[in-house]
Amino acid sequence: MFEVLILAAGEGKRMNSSRPKVLQPVGGRPMLTHLVETTRSLGAGAVRIVIGSGAEQVREAFADEPIEWVMQSERRGTGHAAAQALPDIDPEARVLVLPGDMPLVRARTLQVLLDSRADLAVLSFVAEDPTGYGRILRDGKRVTGIREEKDADERERRIEEVNSGVLVARARELASWLAEISDDNAQGEYYLTDCVAVAAAAGHRIEAVVADDPDELLGANDRAQLAGLERIFRQRAAADLMRRGVTLADPDSVHVRGRVETGRDVSIDVNVVLSGEIRLGDEVHIGPGCVLTDCDLAPGTRIEPFSVLEGVRTTGACRIGPFARLRPGTELAEGVRIGNFVETKKAHLAAGVKVPHLSYVGDAEIGARTNVGAGTITCNYDGVSKHRTVIGRDAFIGSNTSLVAPVEIGEEATIGAGSVISGQAPPGQLTLARARQRTIEDWQRPGARGKKK
Ligand code: UD1
Ligand code: MG
Repeated sequence: MFEVLILAAGEGKRMNSSRPKVLQPVGGRPMLTHLVETTRSLGAGAVRIVIGSGAEQVREAFADEPIEWVMQSERRGTGHAAAQALPDIDPEARVLVLPGDMPLVRARTLQVLLDSRADLAVLSFVAEDPTGYGRILRDGKRVTGIREEKDADERERRIEEVNSGVLVARARELASWLAEISDDNAQGEYYLTDCVAVAAAAGHRIEAVVADDPDELLGANDRAQLAGLERIFRQRAAADLMRRGVTLADPDSVHVRGRVETGRDVSIDVNVVLSGEIRLGDEVHIGPGCVLTDCDLAPGTRIEPFSVLEGVRTTGACRIGPFARLRPGTELAEGVRIGNFVETKKAHLAAGVKVPHLSYVGDAEIGARTNVGAGTITCNYDGVSKHRTVIGRDAFIGSNTSLVAPVEIGEEATIGAGSVISGQAPPGQLTLARARQRTIEDWQRPGARGKKK
């Protein structure tokens, strides 16, 4: 069993943000969320997070999660931060320590570190540009310490193997090493990394596990680095989709900001954003420029270009868009057709319903095969409350009809175009509610009055 200790008390000044750094999003979710999820997936006993700057905001963001919070009221370095948490941890437990801004690290990489039999295992990588990182000092193969950039001499700065900031050790030992470190260094901080030299001097076995994908270990100190993480996240998500049998017209322009489940032969065109919980059945097609949030689309559903869907469920193959806006509570059965410039909200449309153009359908239930003409709207709001519209099966709603809710249209009813329907429309009948057309004979245009024909 091991416990997780995440150091997240830093401010992240260079983000220039009113949010603490660890709450900056990657893939639509806080950096810290990714890390917490990854460590939980490894079966961590407890997850402890050291907070300081913006502590309240961080706690709030994880209000529903079982996390042990530790306050570090002064930022006196990573060693000081870790020391704040250790008294609460079972001395026999192994502790996996991580920086809070490492959202892309993979579970299997951490597992390799956890599998180490060394007394102290640190995760290192070979950096193309080691600037800013602590350098791994070795004597032959033996790891003897970590030197922070600001304390390193010329020769040490040339070392390319650097510290990722992740380590594993038994709590009892970690506490004893931390008790021996000092803040006598270039930054006047207690460095967690100084434990390495202390442990080495005491004859403990130390291993630096070299990660093979340095991208996983990247952190973000500013917005440019954050965008870099986002790009890696996007590339990974796209690669993952393709592995699962999804065709992407342009892997660089599909943005996944949540969890996506897919069937086979799904295809996604350019510039698509998928957020929240998304399920795409076999052969679902998403056209260019679509934004989907929390959608569950049945096999064969086609979303035509530039449609925005949130909280939508299709239970059979439907065609939606182009330019459709489907809002939460929209549920569409097999064969439903939603056309351009149609908005729906809390609407249940049974099989074969067609709403082909320019409509608003809110708080409504529409029976099978009913056709809703262009420009039809449900007037669901009276300024105070929302009311329901219920339309039976096989009805025909003429174009430009206003359905003033609460209102009910019977099965097979026909509504004349341009009607304002505010009462019951009986089944099987034609109902009209509009001024009768008339022609005024001998009428003359004002300008034409008096003129000769
Ligand atoms: C640290 C490592 C360095 C490593 C690098 C990897 C130390 C001394 N150095 O340097 O070897 O190469 O990470 O990115 O550990 N934090 C606190 N309280 C504090 C100070 C920091 O909670 O008092 C947290 C920060 O919020 C951050 C993490 O610890 O999440 C790392 O701190 P940071 O200041 O980024 O350390 P680096 O200088 O990057
Ligand atoms: Mg850092």
